[in-house]
Amino acid sequence: VTRCAYVNGRYVPHADAAVHIEDRGYQFADGVYEVIALRRGRLLDEEAHMARLDRSLAELEIAPAMSHAALGLVMRELVRRNRLGDGNLYLQMTRGVAPRDHGFPAGVETSLVLTARRAKPQPQALVEQGVAVVTMPDIRWGRCDIKSIALLPNVLGKQAARAAGAYEAWLVDRDGHVTEGTSSNAWIVTAAGRLVTRKTGNDILAGVTRRSLIALLGEQGLALEERPFTVAEAKAAREALLTSTTSAVLAVTRIDGAKVGGGRPGKLFGALRRIYLDYADGAGASG
Ligand code: PDD
Repeated sequence: VTRCAYVNGRYVPHADAAVHIEDRGYQFADGVYEVIALRRGRLLDEEAHMARLDRSLAELEIAPAMSHAALGLVMRELVRRNRLGDGNLYLQMTRGVAPRDHGFPAGVETSLVLTARRAKPQPQALVEQGVAVVTMPDIRWGRCDIKSIALLPNVLGKQAARAAGAYEAWLVDRDGHVTEGTSSNAWIVTAAGRLVTRKTGNDILAGVTRRSLIALLGEQGLALEERPFTVAEAKAAREALLTSTTSAVLAVTRIDGAKVGGGRPGKLFGALRRIYLDYADGAGASG
C-alpha cells in the first residue's frame, strides 16, 4: 500500500503531503501535537490523549480543528488506509496559515496533520539490558505541560544523548532535580522499594503512559511518591525507569556512565513492564 497522510481535510500520499510555508507551525512552532500508540490497529489510551490535546489547545487559545468524534473517524481511517497493526500515529494542530506576524491572526482555520507508521518491535536488548541516560540542564520554557511542537531543547538534548551513546537525556532543573526526559517521563525506585516520579505541573508533560501506569499501580496496591528527585538520588536508587508512548516502560541502568541497581534491570521494572504491556495489548486500546 502507498503510505498515506491526512492534511487539512485530505488523505494524500505521504510523499506528497505538504503544508503552506506560512503555516504558523513552520514559522513560529505555534502548535501542539500528540503521539498515540497503535496496538493491533487500535488506539492506545485514546481518551487520555484527546483530553491532553484539548488542554494544550485551550492553553494556547487554538480552536480544535474538529470534534473528537470526527477526529476519531479520521484517525481510524488513516490507520485503515495504511493497513497498520502495531505503530504510532502522529497528530499535529497549528494555529493555521497567515501572513507572518507574531500576534494571533484573525479568521484562520486550525491546521491539522496526521501521519502514521508501523513500529518495529522494540529491540530485546533495550528491554533486557536497560538503557543509558545522560543528564543535562533543563533549558526549556515555563510551560512544559503544554505538548507544544516547539521542541528545540528536546532535540538538542536527545542529540547530545546519542552523541554520548545514551538512549535518553534526563533534564535537570536549577535545584538539581530531574524534571523528565526529552521525550519520556523519569522514575526511580528507592532503597526502601518505593516508586518515585515527579508530580505533574508546569515543568513536565503529564505523560499518558505515566498516567496509565499510575492507575495500574493503584490496582496492584503499589505505593507511589509523586515528588522531585535529584540526580544523586537517582544514581543511588535501586532501580530507575522511563516511560513514553514510543518506549512503553524501559529500565534505566546507567546515569552519566554510573551503574544503577548494579547495571541490570530490576524486579519492579520487570513487573511494571509486564503489567503495562498486558494493559496496552488488552483493555487500554480502543477499536
Ligand atoms: N513524547 N515528556 C516529554 C517531554 C515527551 O515529549 C513525552 C512524549 C513524554 C511521555 O508522554 P507520553 O507517555 O504521553 O508519550 C514525556 C512523544 C512520544 C514524542 O514526542 O514523540
